[in-house]
Amino acid sequence: MQIPELARPSVCMRDRGRVEEIIQAMQRAGPSTLQVISDFDMTLTRFSYNGKRCPTCHNILDNRKLISEECKQKLKDLLNVYYPIESDVGRSVEEKLPLMVEWWTKAHALLVQQKIQKDLLALVVRESDARLREGYRAFFDRLQDHDVPLLIFSAGVGDVLEEVIRQAGVFHPNVKVFSNYMDFDESGALRAFKGELIHIYNKREGALLNAAHFRELWARRNVLLLGDSLGDLTMADGVHSLANILKIGYLNDKVEERKESYLRAYDIVLERDETMDVANGILWHIT
Ligand code: TMP
Ligand code: MG
Repeated sequence: MQIPELARPSVCMRDRGRVEEIIQAMQRAGPSTLQVISDFDMTLTRFSYNGKRCPTCHNILDNRKLISEECKQKLKDLLNVYYPIESDVGRSVEEKLPLMVEWWTKAHALLVQQKIQKDLLALVVRESDARLREGYRAFFDRLQDHDVPLLIFSAGVGDVLEEVIRQAGVFHPNVKVFSNYMDFDESGALRAFKGELIHIYNKREGALLNAAHFRELWARRNVLLLGDSLGDLTMADGVHSLANILKIGYLNDKVEERKESYLRAYDIVLERDETMDVANGILWHIT
């Protein structure tokens, strides 16, 4: 199989033969049977750049124009408590789940208290260090050119991530987003978050709640899934009569401790890889 990107040193696979089989099956079935489902933070966006961590959607909001110094500190304290739990291999999902709900609930309450102004979001995104991974434009454009639907399924903030892809010029009509959206009052100030909360361990429920979306895509039984957390693995749980799924996982952090569990869960694990090259290599082969 001619996908040179799969020979890169960042690529690890539990079963290379199986990966090749899935890719061949997808290639035979063609792009009209394909859909792509991707996480956003640290999957479509970079984890680090020039040795510095890049922000998540929530971290992008951490800007003096939107929130006070005190709120900034509180969000940082939450991150310091809960991020190590999120990425702790020693704890089960059952144990982590209520703690993740706690994190999201507290963070969203803090943001609401700040009455964040809708019309400042674009500016704050522009000022941020958020960066889509190298090769993102080829990825988004290829999917659009071949009419392949891309679902971005994020526990981040929908308004923020939409602005990131809009500013990058890749918010094409084939892109659909499931995420946490802000609810603004008449004056344009944040008053709540809309709908059911999406956190990193309830993407299965989020998928099932959006049944209409997957019903529309019933003929697209082949799925390319991209994620960076083990919680991202359930993003395709709403897909109708799934034929083949290829799961690509970015292993950005705590690489040594988490490698084994990632290799068990994802078909392809990308170790400290800041590019979309592997996904692009596969897409060029099957579309
Ligand atoms: P994702 O589903 O698009 O990856 O978004 C989830 C990420 O958001 C997850 O890795 C944790 C991160 N996060 C923050 O950085 N700050 C916060 O306050 C919260 C609640 C989540
Ligand atoms: Mg993520």
